[in-house]
Amino acid sequence: MKVPLLDLKAQYETIREEIVPALQGVLESQYFILGPEVAGLEGKVAAYSQCSHGIGVSSGSDALLICLMAEDIGPGDEVITTPYTFFATAGAIVRTGARPVFVDVQPDTYNIAPDLIEEQVTPKTRAIIPVHLYGQCADMDPILEIAKKRDLVVIEDAAQAIGSEYVSPIPSPSKICRVGSMGDYGCFSFFPSKNLGGFGDGGMVVTNDPDRAERLKILRVHGSKPKYYHSFVGGNFRLDAIQAAVLSVKLRHLDTWTAKRRENAARYDEAFKSSGLVDKGFVTLPKSVWREAFAEDLGVQDSKGACHDHIYNQYVINTTRRDELKAHLLEKGIGTEIYYPVPLHLQECFANLGYSSGSFPVSEEAAKRTLALPIYPELTSEQQAYVVDSIDEYFLK
Ligand SMILES: Cc1ncc(COP(=O)(O)O)c(C=O)c1O
Repeated sequence: MKVPLLDLKAQYETIREEIVPALQGVLESQYFILGPEVAGLEGKVAAYSQCSHGIGVSSGSDALLICLMAEDIGPGDEVITTPYTFFATAGAIVRTGARPVFVDVQPDTYNIAPDLIEEQVTPKTRAIIPVHLYGQCADMDPILEIAKKRDLVVIEDAAQAIGSEYVSPIPSPSKICRVGSMGDYGCFSFFPSKNLGGFGDGGMVVTNDPDRAERLKILRVHGSKPKYYHSFVGGNFRLDAIQAAVLSVKLRHLDTWTAKRRENAARYDEAFKSSGLVDKGFVTLPKSVWREAFAEDLGVQDSKGACHDHIYNQYVINTTRRDELKAHLLEKGIGTEIYYPVPLHLQECFANLGYSSGSFPVSEEAAKRTLALPIYPELTSEQQAYVVDSIDEYFLK
């Protein structure tokens, strides 16, 4: 049996009849950059994310960059984020000339540990970028509280987490908030492998602040308004209409796909538990913290419940002998991935930041032990059973 990490062809089969006319519409219009197709998607993604404004941009990386630029963050400034994320999070900070300041992650979610943030805030700190890793929201309330107290901008890196929800105990009674709607900005990636993926690069910033939205719209066209008049320097950060047409079709299916990913996650959880791999300590399962923390409060958190506390862009186990297990699974025809093998503070290009091995022990341990398994919506229960059996076989050897 073959079980790829992701099967975009299987997804395409299910939506081909909607995609082809949508693409034909763009071809007939010959309107390729921004325009009505992009504006339509912006409204839909903003509404989906409980925001009033969406600004389509060229990628998730550029979404982060443009937000930092909109805040005039640059040389001499510091921005707090996690070292256990995709490179782009810190890359965007460095591209502005500012300095990334890392804060270690929580061992159960791999999201930034809020209680470690404040000690890193200095007079130079301008912003915090929490990352909603693997599709689960970071603990936003304490982050927002620190940001408010220390007058910092919050840019949510929601590249992996569109539609994911946070159960905020504030205001009381508890409220379900979508990622992107809590900070000053929310950044999405439409890279093809994301839960909402285009046919190429793309991204979006969402915000509830009309002034920030306006500034982002100007920045994405080289800071020009009116056309050819530049009061500040931006860049070419535009989203194209073909991506918007594809993403508008896919957005209609996103909740169904998310529900399937969540069902698959629940099925893996059950199978791993009954295999004994969890009890024997070979495998630690991903933890859905918001479901567990606030289940009683909201009464909606069974795995098929109304709250998308985790949208499983990735289903990531923590395991011993990870690299050998990965090789074994490859031999069995099963695709897996390591997100991420080297935490950012140990990347060669960030050596000048002065961190070293041991600076962020939780991230370093995670980088040695995490393994993403196939979780895409079209995955069958037979394929999942095969994955768990193959892992079982490896550890029983
Ligand atoms: C956490 C995170 N931030 C930013 C990005 C960058 O997005 P893009 O690849 O669209 O530039 C990604 C993409 O993988 C990501 O996972």
